[in-house]
Amino acid sequence: MNAIVSVTQDWGIGKNNRLLVRNREDMLRFKQLTMGGTVVMGRKTFESFPAGPLKGRRNIVVTRDAHYADAHPGIECATSPMEALLLAKADSADKVWLIGGESLYRELLPYCERCLVTRNQVSVPADAYFPNLDEDSAWELECVEGSSQTPEGIPYDFATYRNLDQRDSY
Ligand SMILES: NC(=O)c1ccc[n+]([C@@H]2O[C@H](COP(=O)([O-])OP(=O)(O)OC[C@H]3O[C@@H](n4cnc5c(N)ncnc54)[C@H](OP(=O)(O)O)[C@@H]3O)[C@@H](O)[C@H]2O)c1
Repeated sequence: MNAIVSVTQDWGIGKNNRLLVRNREDMLRFKQLTMGGTVVMGRKTFESFPAGPLKGRRNIVVTRDAHYADAHPGIECATSPMEALLLAKADSADKVWLIGGESLYRELLPYCERCLVTRNQVSVPADAYFPNLDEDSAWELECVEGSSQTPEGIPYDFATYRNLDQRDSY
């Protein structure tokens, strides 16, 4: 399993259950990478999607509500992050993506092999954060590509971090 996330300079990822930066290239890359695979997310992230489940992907949503899927066609539910991992085990590990939000990242990041981080060089108020991988010795910066700017002039790049201490339940 790999994680994918878009962060600001201080590793902010969201506010009021919305993303912090509009970055079309990042959205296209996210779609391209995850298409045909499995996406694992928390219930709040799922509810932030404007059009329900992500099309062309297996959507696994973590919630304590065991009946949540009854009212939300097109998703599978897991009542814990570990149950989500078990469900995803049927799929090839390189096609399983942890896509947020803060609570799911914190719980399942140790099981990820790589983390693809879109680094937006901007600082804006946030109420949800990603762990700072630059300050975590378990994570090594592997490569940086695609430096560019959004139409609003926000510089960004795509960094890949590798987990040197991956837990092997996946
Ligand atoms: N920048 C990015 O790349 C990115 C990506 C994704 C999300 N985000 C942002 O992240 C923020 C949302 O993060 P969040 O942490 O508030 O929400 P979240 O992780 O998306 O969802 C939290 C929910 O997941 C369920 N959950 C979490 N841990 C669980 C556990 N151990 N057992 C059972 N269920 C569990 C609970 O659902 P129930 O309450 O239903 O039990 C919980 O309320 C938003 O601002 C969003 O925009 C940013």
